[in-house]
Amino acid sequence: MGLLRATLVSLAAVTSAASVPNASFKRQVSQLRPSYDFVVVGGGTSGLTVANRLTEALSSKNTLVIEYGDVAQSTPGVFDPPTDWITPAPDAPPAWSFVSLPNPEMGNSTAFVQAGQVLGGSSAVNGMFFDRGSRFDHDGWATLSGSGDWNWNGIYPYFKKSVTFTEPSPAIAQRYNYTWDVSAYGGSGPIYSTFASFQWADQGVLGAAWGELGIQRPKECAGGDKEGVCWVPASQHPVTGRRSHAGLGHYANVQPRANYDLLVKHQVVRVVYPNGPKSGPPMVEVRSLADNHLFNVTVTGEVILSAGALHTPTVLQRSGIGPSSFLNNAGIPVVLDLPGVGSNLQDHSGPPVTWNYSKPYDYFPLPSEMANNATFKAEATAAFNQPTAQGPYTLAGGNSAIYVSLPHITSQYRNITQRIRRMAAGHSDVAPYLPPDVRSDPAMIAGYRQQLHVLADLLENPEAPSLETPWATSEAPGTAWSFLLHPLSRGTVRLDLADHLAQPILDYRAGTNPVDFDIHLAQVRFLRGLLSTPTMQQHGATEIGPGAAVAADDEALRGYVKQQSFLSFMHPCCTAAMMPKPKGGVVGPDLKVHGAKGLRVVDMSVMPFLPSAHLSATAYAVGEKAADIIIDAWN
Ligand SMILES: Cc1cc2nc3c(=O)[nH]c(=O)nc-3n(C[C@H](O)[C@H](O)[C@H](O)COP(=O)(O)OP(=O)(O)OC[C@H]3O[C@@H](n4cnc5c(N)ncnc54)[C@H](O)[C@@H]3O)c2cc1C
Ligand SMILES: *[C@@H]1O[C@H](CO)[C@@H](O)[C@H](O)[C@H]1NC(C)=O
Ligand SMILES: *[C@@H]1O[C@H](CO)[C@@H](O)[C@H](O)[C@H]1NC(C)=O
Ligand SMILES: *[C@@H]1O[C@H](CO)[C@@H](O)[C@H](O)[C@H]1NC(C)=O
Ligand SMILES: *[C@@H]1O[C@H](CO)[C@@H](O)[C@H](O)[C@H]1NC(C)=O
Ligand SMILES: *[C@@H]1O[C@H](CO)[C@@H](O)[C@H](O)[C@H]1NC(C)=O
Ligand SMILES: *[C@@H]1O[C@H](CO)[C@@H](O)[C@H](O)[C@H]1NC(C)=O
Ligand SMILES: *[C@@H]1O[C@H](CO)[C@@H](O)[C@H](O)[C@H]1NC(C)=O
Repeated sequence: MGLLRATLVSLAAVTSAASVPNASFKRQVSQLRPSYDFVVVGGGTSGLTVANRLTEALSSKNTLVIEYGDVAQSTPGVFDPPTDWITPAPDAPPAWSFVSLPNPEMGNSTAFVQAGQVLGGSSAVNGMFFDRGSRFDHDGWATLSGSGDWNWNGIYPYFKKSVTFTEPSPAIAQRYNYTWDVSAYGGSGPIYSTFASFQWADQGVLGAAWGELGIQRPKECAGGDKEGVCWVPASQHPVTGRRSHAGLGHYANVQPRANYDLLVKHQVVRVVYPNGPKSGPPMVEVRSLADNHLFNVTVTGEVILSAGALHTPTVLQRSGIGPSSFLNNAGIPVVLDLPGVGSNLQDHSGPPVTWNYSKPYDYFPLPSEMANNATFKAEATAAFNQPTAQGPYTLAGGNSAIYVSLPHITSQYRNITQRIRRMAAGHSDVAPYLPPDVRSDPAMIAGYRQQLHVLADLLENPEAPSLETPWATSEAPGTAWSFLLHPLSRGTVRLDLADHLAQPILDYRAGTNPVDFDIHLAQVRFLRGLLSTPTMQQHGATEIGPGAAVAADDEALRGYVKQQSFLSFMHPCCTAAMMPKPKGGVVGPDLKVHGAKGLRVVDMSVMPFLPSAHLSATAYAVGEKAADIIIDAWN
């Protein structure tokens, strides 16, 4: 069945971005139509999903996507091989690289975070790990939105619709012990996923150790229940073995389409409401990156902001939609006072547990071969360049992780959740946990309290994960990261006061809510248990960090967390949260910006809090659901 399916999809167009004729995308304003029914700001993961579905369903309406980056000319996926990481440069395609402000609560360390700057957005440059959140994340999101529409049952059909999953061959499945349940998929969406046919040689070692640590193995983690050791497919084409991303699936592979226009290398500056935000849709003011020329695009239907969690708030703020305190400070006339714009920034973060082995760890091959063995790397590159890509590169960053709930991590979990509940109930002042420029706003405080209430329920739920540890290999020095899946601290995305068109200033504010440290400590102590399992002991595992002495002392372990944490796993979100206006929210369940006519946000900005997943699968599902909402509104 798997192979038959693979053969069928190989006959479908596996068009490369390079084969998109220049005529089908535009580089200059003179090539545009006089007006558009829909303008999508940002040709990324969610934005292209919406544009594809709108132009498919509403053939009499024209859609323009305006994208800052270019159409990548490499074939057929962009930035393959996917594990050769992007060179960090502040404003260099195919990705922006940000360094956050120093984070005092984390020993002044900074977050390093990237975002795709190319057609396809972050889906074209990411690690291709393609998982979904737990049902409890989405049910909590729905509670905060004030509507049931966005609960698990409301979004699960769109996760399915977004992707075509291809089963691995029985031989591969057996060799690596992959498990899955096709009923979690069942779609025929334009994005592909499958399991790699490659694993590093020691894959079974940590696998056995997780089992000994008492972590269960669900058959499938994409169906809403994901407490345990999970296999995670890659966003990858089953036949080419290469990256599947929005720029291919939702643009190149559906062109030519007469009502679907794309303008590249242009920055959307702002949306403009000449007669106030009640008479929309707004115009879209755009800047050419080639010659700085500024112009307005006239819109007759609506504007959809899909510039991603780090840029959608910049477009809103430049439009005068944001916290009035900040806008006044920036000299931008206030069009709508929405304090939540850019004020609810979250990302996955955390420190590692590291170890070495006192006995030889002689498996071959291990990932270090890619760095140390030129012959191996040349072979890997040749394997990847086969018509059906094979070998280490197809595994990208790995395809498994463990997801564990707080009650499974510590028997003292109620100490943590009760502390959160006291904050939620107003027994302690939560204002200090909010960004300084919005912390006196009653709506922000009310909304944050409600978030804490929902998160306390989530953290108390033995079926809802709060820790993720991606599992690649246990090669020395072994590393098990502890991702905090549901941080309580909130950061900001704000325009650079010196240059509103430049990249925004990110203030992560990690660890500003002290309960995040309680959770980090519990997670690190739990993960250290991995090293005491019979399998790891048999290999002579010896802990490097944090070490027994540090782990035994709360203050010392806090210091370790501050020094060793990665502040961003490249999952920024939640900067235009779907919550009511009196709760500091920015959009409603219909994705419309509160108080603004003809303006929606559709990207990873709209979640109120992070799900227990990397974000790309959710970005597609949100795009698919948003498209249905918008199509319904115009049919
Ligand atoms: C390096 C990296 C690794 C990652 N690894 C994984 C992973 O392995 N698995 C996973 O699930 N997730 C991963 N993620 C996260 C995931 O890919 C993103 O969260 C998700 O794709 C975001 O989708 P989006 O639609 O919100 O934004 P994006 O896909 O980022 O799209 C935003 C688009 O808007 C454009 N834009 C921005 N500003 C403007 C403007 N003013 N005018 C016009 N256009 C503009 C951008 O160029 C971009 O194309 C990773 C992200 C990165 C950056
Ligand atoms: C497409 O446009 C790019 C940029 O203007 C140019 O370099 C390239 O030669 C063009 N390709 C074709 C086939 O016209
Ligand atoms: C962080 O930086 C601030 C400002 O430079 C400084 O006052 C503070 O001592 C620093 N903290 C640490 C832990 O280095
Ligand atoms: C697969 O599972 C079997 C049985 O549990 C185990 O012996 C084997 O080591 C596993 N293989 C890998 C590659 O994980
Ligand atoms: C866009 O329209 C607004 C409102 O009419 C106007 O103020 C602005 O100058 C226009 N921008 C450009 C570049 O024409
Ligand atoms: C790990 O152990 C090896 C062999 O004993 C040793 O050479 C190496 O320096 C150790 N690495 C670390 C980080 O302790
Ligand atoms: C390097 O990789 C090649 C190809 O897989 C392998 O044959 C060789 O043994 C490796 N060399 C070392 C020193 O491990
Ligand atoms: C949790 O609370 C119990 C009962 O109040 C107390 O005995 C215990 O020490 C607390 N544990 C932690 C880690 O604070």
